[in-house]
Amino acid sequence: MSEATESNRQCKTILPAILVHGGAWAVPDSLRDAVNCGIQRAVRKGYEVLLEKDSALDAIEEAVRALEDDPCFNAGTKGHDTVGAVAVDSLGNVASATSTGGITGKEAGRVGDCPLVGCGRYCDNNIGAVSSTGHGESISKVVLAKTIIMYMQQGLSSQEAAEKALSVMTQRVQGSGGVIVVSNTGDIGIAFTTERMSWASMQNDQLCYGLDPGENNIATISNI
Ligand code: GLY
Repeated sequence: MSEATESNRQCKTILPAILVHGGAWAVPDSLRDAVNCGIQRAVRKGYEVLLEKDSALDAIEEAVRALEDDPCFNAGTKGHDTVGAVAVDSLGNVASATSTGGITGKEAGRVGDCPLVGCGRYCDNNIGAVSSTGHGESISKVVLAKTIIMYMQQGLSSQEAAEKALSVMTQRVQGSGGVIVVSNTGDIGIAFTTERMSWASMQNDQLCYGLDPGENNIATISNI
């Protein structure tokens, strides 16, 4: 992450935001309540830090730590789940993080998308930030996170760029996954081609979350 650009500070209205995901996969119904609860807890913790410290980087660290510590997501231990976060602060600094336990049943030494720049995550203060989840080999082949940033640079919204890149991944390598995206002004995008992806966002003190395709529940800070 570099310093927020002068042009961004001077010319654009920035609406600080944070988004988190708990992995794109077929989350069983038995986990729905726990996942919905955990994802809201994590985004709320991250948002508190975002407001307190006005630091996108500190906010995503806090949110990912909360997800890693939650046995429901268990990316920090032995599970296969991936968790991630993206944020923009009031200066227009963006940050992204992705943490994974990889995918079970793969050969030792396999490298997934998470450690590869531009695949499992990417951020650029001139454009925005992305965190990816899903089939690592497919994500890596299409350099998913950087591809989304490229589409945003070409003028697409965060949502349009997310959907277009995932559609390219389906067409080119028949891979599925999910992404959370925020631009350097706070335009947000959430998309997935898996059965489900647990996600939550906070902006303007409003918390939204979902799990199924098209699901978008609205909560407020006071009733979490
Ligand atoms: N997306 C996690 C992995 O494929 O390793």
